[in-house]
Amino acid sequence: MEINCLHFECLDSTNTWAKENYKSFDPTKLTLVIADQQKAGRGRYKRQWLSSGEKNVHATFTFFLDHGRKDIGNIGQIAALSVIKTLKEFEFTGFLKWPNDIQLNRKKVGGILCETVTNENNIIVIVGIGININMPLETLEKINQPATSWVVERDEKFDIKQVLNKLQGHFAYDIDLFLKQGFQMFLEDYKKHIIHKKDDILVIDQQKGCFHSIDNDGTLIMTLANGREQKFSAGEIEQG
Ligand code: BTN
Repeated sequence: MEINCLHFECLDSTNTWAKENYKSFDPTKLTLVIADQQKAGRGRYKRQWLSSGEKNVHATFTFFLDHGRKDIGNIGQIAALSVIKTLKEFEFTGFLKWPNDIQLNRKKVGGILCETVTNENNIIVIVGIGININMPLETLEKINQPATSWVVERDEKFDIKQVLNKLQGHFAYDIDLFLKQGFQMFLEDYKKHIIHKKDDILVIDQQKGCFHSIDNDGTLIMTLANGREQKFSAGEIEQG
């Protein structure tokens, strides 16, 4: 898909801006909204997404789908894989905490906030990507979970524009392929980057169990204490 890029110095949130303005977007294109700074970045589960000045990637891709697609839930996973590929371009090896958190050295370095809006003709998919690039340790320490950034891992500053260039290339390619051929094309790569190992203890939605596997549709299978298998298609790993 061809990309239309809209760049802002400062927004509250690139996702919020896309949600409020998608009616002016070209429905045949992928619209990328980027902001150097975000004042009110949002994370999953209504959490705040912290950023500090012009130091990180704040990007939102918006595209229009016909009603009726059943695999929209996989789009966040596709975006997370595009981030993994972007990390690789800069010689970082990232891993995925199911469903779509990106980790470096077991600490969160990026996240995806996937939202949808529906109108009579389309489902509008709004995929927000945040990556901690040049965020210093003092700011990372204010985040309420172990978090890291590229500069902390490598002791080197990165050019956000270069990172965004790679990211948009990967996402545009991956989303096209996904829309044409589905999640199957990405399954092996997704599983390869999953951080959870068989029998790791996990808690999802207050249910405790052991990691079993990732199913073909990207859902997580957990083995409960009674031996039963439980499938999760959404949710958050609270412990793992
Ligand atoms: C999460 O892991 O909780 C998801 C974080 C998503 C953050 C990005 S930054 C760009 C876009 N705009 C937002 O307000 N949130 C997403």
